[in-house]
Amino acid sequence: MSDLASLAAEASACTRCSLAESRTQVVFGMGNPDADLVLVGEGPGAEEDRQGLPFVGRSGQLLDRLVREEMGLTREHCYVMNAVKCRPPGNRDPRPDELAACRPWFDAQLAAIRPRVVVTLGNVATRAVLGTTEGITRLRGRTFPLDDAVVIPTFHPAAVLRGGGQAMAQMRADLVRAKLALAGAPTA
Ligand code: URA
Repeated sequence: MSDLASLAAEASACTRCSLAESRTQVVFGMGNPDADLVLVGEGPGAEEDRQGLPFVGRSGQLLDRLVREEMGLTREHCYVMNAVKCRPPGNRDPRPDELAACRPWFDAQLAAIRPRVVVTLGNVATRAVLGTTEGITRLRGRTFPLDDAVVIPTFHPAAVLRGGGQAMAQMRADLVRAKLALAGAPTA
């Protein structure tokens, strides 16, 4: 078993926080275990909890489309995961204690995949990954170091679905920035 597959097997029985009590299953992540690009969302919704896969609803369709159009990549090229691996009941935001309990899984995933670029989607994922309280509108458009990778924050696709044209254009620009970072160009 690959590192990532054995981690996923271990995580499937996780009880590190109380989300374990209400989840249907752990949504560990999906995609290429050798990906240079990792996309990080907030947490599974109802459909993700049912299917066991991240970003399978409308947000995920938009995410797939924008990554394909701006970066020329599909889920076979990248790895998609969430800051918390279990669905928060009623789709509430994950709590700080839940994010902290799940962080070792995120760190282990990154250590196994060793991506070059991590795109964080929205406030919750970006704050959790960068350990900041700043909001996404101030954080996006910038590039942050994380071990051997760079973090490129952008909007959550659900916010783009709600927010319309300007948010969409900004998310597209952030994905172009991620593409440049993958190509080794300076993006700061
Ligand atoms: N929103 C997220 O942040 N993650 C998912 O997997 C689905 C919707």
